[in-house]
Amino acid sequence: MKTLKEALLERHSVRQYQDKKIESEKCELLRQKVEELNKEGNLHMQFAEDAGDTFNRLLNKFMGLGSAPGVIACIGEDSDDLEERVGYYGQKLVLYAQQLGLNTCWAGTYQPKNVPAEIGKGEKLVLVIAIGYGVNGGRERKSKTFEDVVVTKRTDYPDWFKEGVKCALLAPTAMNQQKFEIRLNDDDTVEFIDKGGIHSKTDLGIVKLNFEIGAEK
Ligand SMILES: Cc1cc2nc3c(=O)[nH]c(=O)nc-3n(C[C@H](O)[C@H](O)[C@H](O)COP(=O)(O)O)c2cc1C
Repeated sequence: MKTLKEALLERHSVRQYQDKKIESEKCELLRQKVEELNKEGNLHMQFAEDAGDTFNRLLNKFMGLGSAPGVIACIGEDSDDLEERVGYYGQKLVLYAQQLGLNTCWAGTYQPKNVPAEIGKGEKLVLVIAIGYGVNGGRERKSKTFEDVVVTKRTDYPDWFKEGVKCALLAPTAMNQQKFEIRLNDDDTVEFIDKGGIHSKTDLGIVKLNFEIGAEK
């Protein structure tokens, strides 16, 4: 199996899917991983191999997500940090799916009432993730640069930090907005700053995970 970092480096959003079901062994592995991550992140994420009419909005048809066979519903008890945790643990699932040879796309545009998942009392459906076998692996997109997102001025950036930022820049963000900044303090601690925007809290969780995997810290 590919390492998490290898999966991260090769992954792109995929919006066009083959008409092919996810094999039952892989469904089982995904369910186990969802359970493990729900415990770790205090979430109630749910995987459904049949997305049903989750992606039946006009925009989904136009953008292609309507072809996704499966869906992961990102749900948790409502709290201030729910969106960021959804980003962090949801991205763990996204990278695991990539390790299994599957493709994914985070989605803020979908039909909430059609999501095949249980939303408990006090819980909130934050976002979903489309999952299946893509017609291809997606493609590279435009990205901000190291200088755009790193706000500290140092002459001595350690290698682990550079690798972390490289992987953070590969993190999926809503509409590819990349509205975050990264600060390296003199004591080598790292801070992430959310610059706002739609789903930017979820984006920040995704960015933090990608940074961690890149920096191997
Ligand atoms: C929180 C979030 C919401 C997203 N919502 C949608 C969406 O509704 N529809 C869509 O096609 N892509 C959506 N995306 C995918 C982004 O457009 C994509 O990640 C970004 O353009 C970067 O491309 P990449 O993932 O291939 O690196 C979303 C991504 C994130 C992180």
